[in-house]
Amino acid sequence: MDRNEEIITLLKMYNQHHIIKLLDKLNEKQKQNLLEQISNIDLHQVMELYDNTKKEIEIKENKIESIQYLDKEKLTKMEQDKFRELGEKVIVSAQYAVVTMAGGQGTRLGHTGPKGTFKLDVYGKGKYLFEILAENLKEANKKYNTIIPWYIMTSKENNDETQEFLEKNNYFGYEKKHVMLFKQGELPLIDENGKLLIGNNLKIKEASNGNGGVFASLRTSGMLSDMKERGIKWVFIGGVDNAILKMVDVILLGMAICKNVQIASKSVVKANAHEKVGVFCKMNGHPKVIEYSELPEKMAEEVDDNGELKFSESHIMCNLFTIEAIEKISKEPLIYHSAFKKNSYIDENCKEIIPDKPNSYKFEAFIFDSFELFDDIAILRGKREDDFAPVKNKEGVDSPKTAKELYEKYWERQK
Ligand code: UD1
Repeated sequence: MDRNEEIITLLKMYNQHHIIKLLDKLNEKQKQNLLEQISNIDLHQVMELYDNTKKEIEIKENKIESIQYLDKEKLTKMEQDKFRELGEKVIVSAQYAVVTMAGGQGTRLGHTGPKGTFKLDVYGKGKYLFEILAENLKEANKKYNTIIPWYIMTSKENNDETQEFLEKNNYFGYEKKHVMLFKQGELPLIDENGKLLIGNNLKIKEASNGNGGVFASLRTSGMLSDMKERGIKWVFIGGVDNAILKMVDVILLGMAICKNVQIASKSVVKANAHEKVGVFCKMNGHPKVIEYSELPEKMAEEVDDNGELKFSESHIMCNLFTIEAIEKISKEPLIYHSAFKKNSYIDENCKEIIPDKPNSYKFEAFIFDSFELFDDIAILRGKREDDFAPVKNKEGVDSPKTAKELYEKYWERQK
């Protein structure tokens, strides 16, 4: 059996007859391109993901507890000094790196292009989200007399645009040799019947595999080896869309070292029961975040004896990992979450179909599903006004308007 026949056999086995029919209608070059792409897709994994969409997410509430944390505001002077000293030691000895996950597009924001290229209307002139992040790192570099290597995760879709944007803006003054871009992985989209979607470029439609893809991509892209060569011990991994994200918090770092854990995370108190943030908890004794889209209403609203939300520690995408933790996670399969969305496709007669309702599944791994692989995590409760100014929606909550206000107020207080 030649390679093409093998692929056709696989397509039959996984019930992808529509692709076989389409192949007959393509010219030789188009056919080879499509077959080549399919040969790189793990159809078995894709069908497993499809089967999982039929299963209910099980959250056994009796095994869920709220999580322990330290409140940054309530640390004693001694604790603060101790954490700061431990944290600073790592930074000044160049053992600290930062990863920004910038694979997402600003779709909810109504921005066309990579989210980091969105300009937040602050102080009249405005600042790009990437610029805000670069400034945060440059400030730390100055303070600790070092240069923190900055790794930026892009997607296949936005890598070139991100690269061009950063070049054009001279990396916002960050030394270019310390900024490394790497791409995250993709997974195919499939319809309600488990059929792979084909786009009008005659290729299988694929989409980014979620921010949990960061670990495997760090390894496969060679970035993890690069970190090791530089002697990195701790890696901060954050998002691109929090205008006051602190990527170098020596208290968080020192606390993680002091508690001898492999992962640490900053939280803020949830604004209300239905705020769209993941919440920390312990499930079966392991640290976990339950994403807002999967949090049962009862849990979201549950209060403790003081009338406070029981699951109040919000995940604000401010996470620290040891290099060993990243290595370990990068070799473990994380679970994939599915989202049912509208996606156009071409049918077996090459006719484009634009659906008017959701028709297909997109699969995403979430960064925090890695926490369950560990026994413990150190959580530092920060302050919303100092730590969290998300830029998510075009209008209303977590919009450029609210982020601008938080950003300007924060910097006003630093004067
Ligand atoms: C995310 C968190 C949520 C948290 C909230 C705080 C996840 C799954 N959810 O929600 O728990 O409370 O932030 O603001 O982490 N990204 C990629 N590649 C992808 C997908 C996303 O790099 O394939 C990046 C985005 O560019 C962004 C970050 O991950 O920097 C979060 O993006 P998004 O998936 O939009 O998560 P939220 O719904 O905002």
